[in-house]
Amino acid sequence: MNRAVPRIAPSILSADFGRLAEAVMTMTASGADWIHIDVMDGHFVPNLTVGPPLVKALRNETTLPLDVHLMMTNPDVFIPEFAEAGADYLTVHVEACPHLHRTIQAIKEHHMKAGVTLNPGTSITTLEEIVEEVDLVLVMTVNPGFGGQTFISSGLEKINRVRRLIDHTTTKPLLEVDGGVTLENAGKIVRAGAEVLVSGSAIFSSKDYASTIYLMRSAGRTMAV
Ligand code: DX5
Ligand code: ZN
Repeated sequence: MNRAVPRIAPSILSADFGRLAEAVMTMTASGADWIHIDVMDGHFVPNLTVGPPLVKALRNETTLPLDVHLMMTNPDVFIPEFAEAGADYLTVHVEACPHLHRTIQAIKEHHMKAGVTLNPGTSITTLEEIVEEVDLVLVMTVNPGFGGQTFISSGLEKINRVRRLIDHTTTKPLLEVDGGVTLENAGKIVRAGAEVLVSGSAIFSSKDYASTIYLMRSAGRTMAV
């Protein structure tokens, strides 16, 4: 197995919220591939963060894809606003979408890439009917809501099972992993099949962002042989 070099998507949840524009510019200059923005509604997850106005403001600070992760119930209502704000990828939780197919179609109709994600406790069988329709599958390897948590070790095997599911599709959506990704485990996560690594605390707590992003990407490459 020798997969492509993984994309690195720093999560600005771990940035200084008083200096988000600066954080996005710094991550862009440090070699990030995407910018990951966590939207939390205080209902689906026990935390509150940001919404479309902030995405719109940050759109002006980078040309990198904005990867917007919606941890919210009833995301359908906000799809037009996130599109207008300039989100490139819009990812919804299977647990929050009773009409998942309709939601995914609506995201695509608004000219965004559609992502679907599932919590650590959710079976990958929930992906079977939708995997051909999406551009991205996000495997959560912590329970969503907060940065700085530890990678749930059973996640590796789950990533591998999602990899095999995706390999059998005709559309080959990207496989992204979010939660507890560090320099130490990045190689294993890529070897299990991930193509995009979200990382918040490991990048933002490091002294040299560019070197951490470079090493995280390289760790994936050298381990993926
Ligand atoms: C968690 C968020 C993640 C979070 C990851 O609910 O979806 O994107 O920022 O942070 P780390 O990398 O610190 O686990
Ligand atoms: Zn996230």
